[in-house]
Amino acid sequence: MSHLIAVLPGDGIGPEIMEQATRVLTALGLPLELETAPVGGAAYDLHGHPLPPETLALAKRAKAVLFGAVGDWKYDKLPREHRPEQAILGLRKALGLFANLRPAILYPELANASSLKPEVVSGLDILILRELTGDIYFGQPRGMRTAEDGPFKGEREGFDTMRYAETEIRRIAHIGFQAAMKRGKKLCSVDKANVLETSQFWRDLVIEVAKDYPEVELSHMYVDNAAMQLVRAPREFDVIVTGNLFGDILSDEAAMLTGSIGMLPSASLNESGQGLYEPSHGSAPDIAGQGLANPLATILSAAMLLRYSLNEEAAAARIEAAVRKVLADGLRTADIYEPGTHKVSTGQMGDAVLAAL
Ligand code: NAI
Ligand code: MG
Repeated sequence: MSHLIAVLPGDGIGPEIMEQATRVLTALGLPLELETAPVGGAAYDLHGHPLPPETLALAKRAKAVLFGAVGDWKYDKLPREHRPEQAILGLRKALGLFANLRPAILYPELANASSLKPEVVSGLDILILRELTGDIYFGQPRGMRTAEDGPFKGEREGFDTMRYAETEIRRIAHIGFQAAMKRGKKLCSVDKANVLETSQFWRDLVIEVAKDYPEVELSHMYVDNAAMQLVRAPREFDVIVTGNLFGDILSDEAAMLTGSIGMLPSASLNESGQGLYEPSHGSAPDIAGQGLANPLATILSAAMLLRYSLNEEAAAARIEAAVRKVLADGLRTADIYEPGTHKVSTGQMGDAVLAAL
């Protein structure tokens, strides 16, 4: 039986980086069926909608979605519902993608790109798991009102609600432990349980879920401390699991530790293991169509797709080893170029990964 994969290249550098990633997927000799559909501004131009019904239907039918990037300045004046970025929100919602996996890996060869000292960060390999559909970002009630009590009674106030249901916490905790089982078997749950009720509930439930994973070493950390430890000794972590708000901030912090936006993959999963896989960067319209884009974040996203949605660990590891090999051989796209290395185009980087496979 072959696995259907929806390939959504999108805008800007999306088509260029996606071409390299699909070459790599195809070369593995696995029973994969790749079907391409328009998304973002490209879909708006063709069908008047950034996420046309045919594209959404394909994404729902597929085992996994490989997504390039969407967005371009030329769509900035469109009403919000027609903007390319709406396609990502629409896909997240329709597929129920509640778990966002953001690895932060710093290959030793690229250690100079980090703003941290190489001896602190070289060889970094951590995974930040962010809950994506709950927390204060979506909690009701929220809005503006007149304060009814406190020192500012009678004034206008803005308010949001931080809340997490038991199911939401349990399912993200399970993904955290399962990811840790596939890696270094260490899970750090990040919260603010000294101050927040939501966090105390989160911590209690994570401890309960841990009973199903006796091999994983569980620790807990307050978010302010986690923000410090990420810059002091980031390699101490393996997998970090946290809520939507804390994860938004920590995952961007961890990405910056690596200094190479063109290298970072990401995944968003739902309860049935279906997932959307995309590079962490955007559509980079400033360099589109010039062969300058780094395809490695998208190629590494394809590796995550194999690992997390198809359970093809060996094939995923093969892609990752090929990427390590081309970096060790000194090949660099412009964004990661340093004197003494060999500058290559988007397509040449794809060629090199294929050869290394
Ligand atoms: P961006 O990530 O597209 O670009 C930031 C900078 O990094 C640019 O200088 C770009 O040239 C460079 N860059 C990004 N990816 C690269 C790659 N693979 N290789 C080499 N250099 C790379 O972020 P920006 O400029 O803020 O946004 C551009 C467009 O992308 C906007 O329309 C934005 O809305 C959209 N966007 C889309 C996302 C998505 O599709 N998931 C995520 C973030 C932004
Ligand atoms: Mg963010």
